[in-house]
Amino acid sequence: MYGNVSVIDVSETAQILNEDPVRLEQFEAKIARGEKIEPYDWMPKEYRRQLIRMIEQHAHSEIIGALPEGTWITRAPGFKRKMALMAKVQDESGHAQLLYNGAETLGKTREEMINDLINGKSKYSNVFNYPAKTWADTAVIAWLVDASAIINQVLNSKGSYGPYCRALERICMEESFHLRYGYDNVTTLATGTPVQREMVQDALNRWWKPIMHFFGPPDNASVHSEILMRWKVKMASNDDMRQQFLNQYVPKILELGLSIPDPNLVKNKEIGKWSYSDPDWNEFFEVIRGNGPCNKERLAVRRMAEENGAWVRKALHKNAAYTVPLS
Ligand code: COA
Repeated sequence: MYGNVSVIDVSETAQILNEDPVRLEQFEAKIARGEKIEPYDWMPKEYRRQLIRMIEQHAHSEIIGALPEGTWITRAPGFKRKMALMAKVQDESGHAQLLYNGAETLGKTREEMINDLINGKSKYSNVFNYPAKTWADTAVIAWLVDASAIINQVLNSKGSYGPYCRALERICMEESFHLRYGYDNVTTLATGTPVQREMVQDALNRWWKPIMHFFGPPDNASVHSEILMRWKVKMASNDDMRQQFLNQYVPKILELGLSIPDPNLVKNKEIGKWSYSDPDWNEFFEVIRGNGPCNKERLAVRRMAEENGAWVRKALHKNAAYTVPLS
């Protein structure tokens, strides 16, 4: 179902979306053949709208995502870890650049996207609205939040929109370094002193729920999945990505002697699926509506960056004007 209407049939879909059925059929056939859609190709208005929404949210998540970890650069334990964290934060900002470029190919300007972010019109990932209280939080973020992002991004890099897929491929390569860095930090704490162990366990306890939320609402509450999966923008459902995360990372977490704060987390070996406690979906929806613990702070920082950087952009534009050849 898409909205209230089934979209199984192409002509019916064309009617609902107010598109030419022949063009829609050719577009879908191209996707079915595994070919990429490029910015200059014909695409349904809804495909463009959905991609802008998703890529823009993703780009915002990267720049906002740099904030919780960024606050620890000055307090990182030791020069080596400080350098690594600085590089990671810089990478995340670079990912935002790649993604904003990708969304711009669809016709929305960067200024419009940034304005929609700081005015609270566009969403970004729930997970970055929680505080990084201790150094162990940065370790859990770098390992498990980045692991979650990699699951999503590796899948979607095989999708249909060329510029998004190419950006994701590059992002995934860098994210895999972040994952190793995060794992190294978690392992150091988990095998360290009792205080360090306690600190990393406490961070895991606080981040588990936001990480479960990260993959999006349960499939039966996901409004965009059907059309996105039909058009191969999204290559797995929210629940399937969550299951993949549990399959890959629960054993690794337990191997470090850490416990997972969900007494109902268990794998049904017959069907190969995990069951878990309801991770409080009301909290998820409140957070993505702007009412999480750090939403206001995160947007305030972005607004400040935008305002403080205005003179630089103005100066660059002014100088760019001098480089235009006079005819
Ligand atoms: N954080 C914030 N909002 C989220 C979310 C999350 N973790 N998961 C879902 N939502 C929002 C959706 O954006 C949508 O809101 P909207 O209609 O106002 O845009 C709503 O919840 C319903 O969710 P759903 O129908 O499942 O959205 P979706 O099909 O777009 O799937 C994602 C959600 C996150 C899986 C998908 O958008 C995605 O893969 N995005 C790209 C990757 C990304 O942004 N990663 C984040 C940081 S690395």
